[in-house]
Amino acid sequence: MGRDYFQITLIVLGFIATSLFAVFVWREAFPEYKIYQKNYVALEKFRSTYTGEAPPDFSIGIKQIVILKEDKGPAKIDRCISCHVALEYSHFSATKIARDLNGNIIYNEDGIPKQITNEDDVWARLDLEILKLEKSNQNSEAEKLRSLKTAHVNGNIFDVKKVLKMHPLMGAETRPFEFHPIEEYGCTSCHNGNGLGLTTIKRMDLFLMGSMKLNLRGLYLNLMKRMSSMTRNSLKITTENRVMMYYFKPHLFLLGL
Ligand code: HEC
Ligand code: HEC
Repeated sequence: MGRDYFQITLIVLGFIATSLFAVFVWREAFPEYKIYQKNYVALEKFRSTYTGEAPPDFSIGIKQIVILKEDKGPAKIDRCISCHVALEYSHFSATKIARDLNGNIIYNEDGIPKQITNEDDVWARLDLEILKLEKSNQNSEAEKLRSLKTAHVNGNIFDVKKVLKMHPLMGAETRPFEFHPIEEYGCTSCHNGNGLGLTTIKRMDLFLMGSMKLNLRGLYLNLMKRMSSMTRNSLKITTENRVMMYYFKPHLFLLGL
């Protein structure tokens, strides 16, 4: 009887180990970031159909920002850009900076560039094309384009428009990361989170796993210190509000593998 129990336990453990290994192999073979990168490539291809420009070169693979420490300590590595590959491209933004007839930037009363609708936004062009195809009953073509907007990952449905979009302009920036070069700051210095993670999971899952790290004060002080290099006082207030709003927004954290 005791021996049977021992054998069954061994079989069960063997089964668990094999399943874990299978999950590991599966994840290695079909990593989540490839979904967004492939969608990105498809979107650039779609864009080239109406701009006439060749799609930019892009190689599928893990992308990371490595920040070396001055004291030669372990480097900080952020892999966020493995999925968020379009952060610096203005054609992935719903808005653009307004300019006058002479091409000068129009500022609002707080000294922040005014934003207007961007007709060159790939996602907006995609929606127009989908409508056009549907009107002419080319439903399978329309479906193909529509499928670029969502990703199905381990039972979750993710909004690819949120992954593949330009980084919002902060303060008086006229292009993403103008005042905070990502080679210097990476992403987690402002956003926290797991810089090495390559799997998106819902925040609730992480709460359950008890590994949610909240460093609100650190995040706030950090950002204020950075933003103080920009002089206008009004700017500080808007940035502060934004960071707070940002932090309390439902958000996804990453699971490191
Ligand atoms: C494995 C792919 C992946 C990686 C790596 C990744 N993200 Fe994301 N990110 C996503 C997905 C998917 C979403 C949104 C999905 C949804 O809301 O449906 C998202 C959404 C976000 C949002 C919210 C966007 C919005 O418009 O609401 C922020 C902010 C964000 N990620 C920051 C980060 C940061 C910072 C890192 C690195 C620490 C990172 N991401 C790494 C896939 C990823
Ligand atoms: C200097 C600080 C800073 C750095 C560096 C930074 N971010 Fe952000 N990020 C912010 C702030 C602040 C916001 C909210 C801005 C807003 O809503 O106007 C934001 C917004 C975003 C959003 C959109 C969220 C939304 O709700 O629309 C994404 C996605 C994102 N960041 C990803 C990244 C990734 C990936 C990196 C690294 C390449 C990065 N950020 C680097 C401060 C930063």
